[in-house]
Amino acid sequence: MRTYLVTGGAGFIGSNYIHYMFDKYDNDIRIINVDKLTYAGNLENLKDIENRDNYTFIKADICDKDAISKIFAENDIDRVVHFAAESHVDRSIKNPEVFVQTNVLGTAVMLNCAKAAWEQEDGSFKEGKKFLHVSTDEVYGSLPEDPDAYFYETTPIDPHSPYSASKASSDMLVKAYIDTYHFPANITNCSNNYGPYQFPEKLIPLIINNALSGKNLPVYGDGKNVRDWLYVMDHAKAIDMVQEEGVLGQRYNIGGHNEKQNIEIIEIILDTLQELLPDSDPRKANVSRNLITYVTDRKGHDRRYAIAPDKIKADLGWFPETMFKDGIRLTIKWYLENEEWMKRVTSGDYQKYYDSMYAGR
Ligand code: NAD
Ligand code: TYD
Repeated sequence: MRTYLVTGGAGFIGSNYIHYMFDKYDNDIRIINVDKLTYAGNLENLKDIENRDNYTFIKADICDKDAISKIFAENDIDRVVHFAAESHVDRSIKNPEVFVQTNVLGTAVMLNCAKAAWEQEDGSFKEGKKFLHVSTDEVYGSLPEDPDAYFYETTPIDPHSPYSASKASSDMLVKAYIDTYHFPANITNCSNNYGPYQFPEKLIPLIINNALSGKNLPVYGDGKNVRDWLYVMDHAKAIDMVQEEGVLGQRYNIGGHNEKQNIEIIEIILDTLQELLPDSDPRKANVSRNLITYVTDRKGHDRRYAIAPDKIKADLGWFPETMFKDGIRLTIKWYLENEEWMKRVTSGDYQKYYDSMYAGR
């Protein structure tokens, strides 16, 4: 039975990944989820699996060397899947330091502890041990509006925001471990994810939440920035495929040729909400294009991201299974059916964050 150490498993992608893995492997794997439970970590995302015998949650900071090495000492870890990170660009613009702390130093601690646990006397690594570093396409910087321009694995790293700079730094550290020690790792660089359990500071859940409550829908700049959206379960599947079938030491881009301008996304959400909400639901009256509000642009706002998934398709046979029109309906339905989840995560600190982030914009 393989034992996984998943970091950041209480966050958006990590919790979807854990669901994906138990659906796929059931009792054939064991998962240890290590999460500090920052504002973005929510154990409610894992309620349905928390009592499984083959699942353990440990509250710990990935920067805490003692706590992480203790987990390696007490468990024979076969796979590390490293999601834990500070993940929101706007927060990184306001407070870059914690991004360096968690994303760079935290990754260094994870690499060091895994290396110490897996390295043998002759410098080789124990058979079958693998580390996967989950990263983003934002490390490649911004593309021009030319529809033939894409990010490839060979595209030079050129991050612009403190978030993407910290992720690029952590990618480089993983690469250094691969190059220096032949450390058994892969790096994945994925495009923007959407789906259930995403914290409503990110565009899609923020727009759904604001539209349902009749609040302004803040559009940064001219609304024509492009992101390449991927359903989160397709990302989870790709991570598992790369870890099991990918060539160790290599980087894989993950994305779905699903480029959309932000304003298009907002219009699709409004149309889908109108369609899905019954006339009897009082929230329906709130949903209106009149809520769209152009606000001051994000500093250093990357214009366009678009992944060329040629390598992962050709080498591993991965492709995005969920069409955007289906994935966005599933996602909106999930938020409509999980109003209490949204209420709980948007109370308290989120309200303070929202007021300070959008005041005067
Ligand atoms: P998220 O913010 O929803 O979740 C991050 C999780 O990490 C939370 O559970 C949080 O509590 C935990 N965490 C934060 N700091 C920690 C620390 N010091 N120690 C332990 N746990 C800590 O993020 P997400 O959107 O799920 O992203 C997960 C990973 O995927 C990140 O590495 C991110 O860079 C990458 N990624 C995200 C996207 C996207 O569209 N969201 C796209 C590509 C790659
Ligand atoms: P976001 O979900 O923060 O992801 P990222 O910055 O990592 O791509 O933002 C997606 C896009 O939506 C990005 O171009 C910024 C834009 N955006 C808005 O226009 N308004 C908002 O309130 C937010 C949060 C984002």
